Amino acid sequence: MISSKIENGLNGNPSIPGDKSISHRSIIIPSVSKGITEIKNILKSDDVQNTLIAFKKMGVKIEENSDLITVYGNGLNSLKKPDQDLYLGNSGTSARLLTGLLSSQKFDSRLTGDKSLSSRPMNRIADPLSKMNAKIITSNGSLPVLIKGNKLSNAEIDIKVPSAQIKSGVMLAALNTEGTTSIIENNVTRDHTEIMFEAFNADIDIDKIDNKKIIKINGGKELTSKNIDVPSDLSSSAFFIVAALINSNSKLLLKNININPTRNGILIALNKMGAKISFLNKRKNNYEDVCDIEVVSSELNGCDLSSDIADLMIDEYPILSIAASFANSPSIFRGLSELRVKESDRLELIRLNLANCGINCKIVDDDLFINPLNKTVVKNKEIITNFDHRIAMAFTILGTKLGSLKINDSDSIKTSFPAFKEEFNKVGGKIS
Ligand code: S3P
Repeated sequence: MISSKIENGLNGNPSIPGDKSISHRSIIIPSVSKGITEIKNILKSDDVQNTLIAFKKMGVKIEENSDLITVYGNGLNSLKKPDQDLYLGNSGTSARLLTGLLSSQKFDSRLTGDKSLSSRPMNRIADPLSKMNAKIITSNGSLPVLIKGNKLSNAEIDIKVPSAQIKSGVMLAALNTEGTTSIIENNVTRDHTEIMFEAFNADIDIDKIDNKKIIKINGGKELTSKNIDVPSDLSSSAFFIVAALINSNSKLLLKNININPTRNGILIALNKMGAKISFLNKRKNNYEDVCDIEVVSSELNGCDLSSDIADLMIDEYPILSIAASFANSPSIFRGLSELRVKESDRLELIRLNLANCGINCKIVDDDLFINPLNKTVVKNKEIITNFDHRIAMAFTILGTKLGSLKINDSDSIKTSFPAFKEEFNKVGGKIS
């Protein structure tokens, strides 16, 4: 894919697809609830499709129409042993959440994934689950993972890694475990699972003590199905938001965007940088915060972000780095170790590609320093993505300023935003 410079700004109302995290949970949770769930605006992408196929393989009836998915749930113990491996493609969310859910089922299952997913750490979910007596056999700490379904024991689980995927995997295991499982979260991470559990009448209790969150789940209670209207994805919107900010004469309106406060770090960071962003029509949708976002071209300042905010915007550093590259002062983003274990080593790919594009940057320990220059001389127009969708989209936005960047392996974008190119070109982008 080639991303070319744009001259006349970006204008209009691009359509942003459903939130990826909520879409996964919209298949997983209704599949083990009692009753029928109709889901609107689900993200139709490779990642979510892999979750959906996995549940069909476990005997769940799921009907797919153009604008509605219907899941017929039969309860906590209704899943059937799949007669094949469950292939999860590129999706870390599916791998971690399903490991938790399937560890408490009565059958064995095996999870596999693509090259990137097969190199990502799975001990971070297998270890806490083993404290509940789960039997999970990884391949040197990664996929393929064999899950020996087992009656789990309730326990107190202290989640050390700042990860919503790990927290959610343990919560799903606790659903089908007798007694009360207490999950202690030391860092705030996205709470879509908590919100959906409450909406589906799980026996869940949440307390905050100092900076910790204690989630107590009383297992064995059947969940009640509810219809879901998936809000649009802030992470996918962020590419359009930054594109409008750094290109003059731009104004975009993005509708129905999820602004869950455990997820909105990118908005806090851009606000600090002086971005002109308005939040219109704020409302609740299925207990999630939603609004329309209007963004116009802005003069950005650099900013110094502490590691605390990283958990609230972990997926947005690639695109935030592009914004920082056009600010009028340097930026420092601190505490980014988790970026090294995403779909690629995102920290290194941000540095490498920015440096190739002539932007002054360096990594010291886990901190990223970006020092924008007045004039940028591109040294290498080829963007290495290692098949990472967010690196591909972020550097496409860099192309709108620097011109003709060749984004390698851009097919990965289908993971989270299949219509990215069409939507971007619709508002004035030049991607071919
Ligand atoms: C996700 C959590 C995050 C995020 C991922 C989606 C989720 O991962 O990077 O894209 O849906 O729970 P971690 O929880 O591992 O940080």
